[in-house]
Amino acid sequence: MDYSVVKGTHDVIQGEASAYTHVENILCQVASNYGYQEFRTPIIENSGLFMRSVGEGSDIVRKEMYTFKDKGDRDITLRPEMTAGVVRSMVNARLFASSDFPVKAFYVGPNFRYERPQQGRYRQFNQFGVECVGTDSIIRDVEVIELAYNSLKIIGFDKVTLKINTLGDEDSRVAYKQALVDYFSKHIETMCDDCKERIKLNPLRILDCKVPEDQVIVKDAPELKNYLSKDAKERFDETLKMLEKLEIPFEIDENLVRGLDYYTGVVFEFTYVSTNGLNVGSLGGGGHYGKLLKELGGPDLEGVGFAFGIERLISILKDENRLPQEEGLDLYLMPLDKKYNENALELVTTLRNLGFSAEANFEGGSISSAFKKAERRSAKFALIFGEDEIKNNTVQVKDLNKKEQKEVKFDELFDFLDENLIDEDEHHHE
Ligand code: HAM
Repeated sequence: MDYSVVKGTHDVIQGEASAYTHVENILCQVASNYGYQEFRTPIIENSGLFMRSVGEGSDIVRKEMYTFKDKGDRDITLRPEMTAGVVRSMVNARLFASSDFPVKAFYVGPNFRYERPQQGRYRQFNQFGVECVGTDSIIRDVEVIELAYNSLKIIGFDKVTLKINTLGDEDSRVAYKQALVDYFSKHIETMCDDCKERIKLNPLRILDCKVPEDQVIVKDAPELKNYLSKDAKERFDETLKMLEKLEIPFEIDENLVRGLDYYTGVVFEFTYVSTNGLNVGSLGGGGHYGKLLKELGGPDLEGVGFAFGIERLISILKDENRLPQEEGLDLYLMPLDKKYNENALELVTTLRNLGFSAEANFEGGSISSAFKKAERRSAKFALIFGEDEIKNNTVQVKDLNKKEQKEVKFDELFDFLDENLIDEDEHHHE
């Protein structure tokens, strides 16, 4: 029997989990400041949802989905991304019939893709993302890009690279697809098996091919910019102008096509190289989608969004030694003998109810081992008591940073701690 984690998955435990919470909280807070509301949609969806939205021609749907039949013979998939589910939820709830436009959602949660695991790439990974739906305005596209850029800055990534491209509108896409098919048909015999599939399902994806021999052919392929309609070109130019005005640096990357089929118009991705040279790939990406709502049975409205990979944000922070420190305990109780455990339980319960974070050493052992435990939990004060203290209604309070110890009367304990903890770190107690 194998009790290790499933390949491509990872445990997030102890201090690391609090780093996840910290980063997620910042992202959620920033999104709320921009007027977004949290959405929580199911992890399992009907498989058809992703075929329709992410697209049957995408690598995700063709190769990477965790799909199974449930006991009722339903065709179920663990979500590989969250845009499809969130937009579906908006359509199902008929938010476009009653709400003000646009509907703005943010979300956090696990996703599943059967990919080859490597640095920064997992089979179960977490995303934070936003969707701004019910609008085709360029200013909303820019606002979403600015939100992503600003969030990264607030977390502490100030030198991100923003790559940006436009996939054009429907007319541009049709013309460009045809040009690609015409060009690649001449070379397809010598290209990889994936490309042979892609030319039938989604010729745009050939541009993403990582096989070196194929990249040589891709280099001379027709360029999308020459097939953009006038309208699509103007939209893109205007987007870039607004980004310049907001002083958001970008690089135009004409080969950026993204791996999901629902995009039309602007697409973008953020990358970052750590001070140690670590590059975990794209920290996040997104773009504008013109047809997704309609394909999911909704109204003919457009949207824009992006998602970050939380694991990737965390691994960069870790690499740069910038993971937030776990908050230490206020108090660590040390009964000098196990026979005072019940007194300790009573006291620690009272203190916790007063709002202090506190742990007690009910496990006995030497006093020095108790101090080591307190240190490992970064406790600020140790409360030590034995027979004498209990008799006198007092407790020894040791400030573990200043290494000062003082006997404090029981009925003065709360005030004493409250005052001194505020001194230590602006801790707030009601
Ligand atoms: P995506 O580019 O497929 O877009 O994923 C977004 C981010 O999720 C990536 O940039 C990466 O940081 C992270 N990610 C993806 N796959 C993995 C993996 N196997 N392991 C670790 N991290 C991963 C989307 O999912 C779109 N739904 C984004 C979007 C929202 N577009 C419009 N709205």
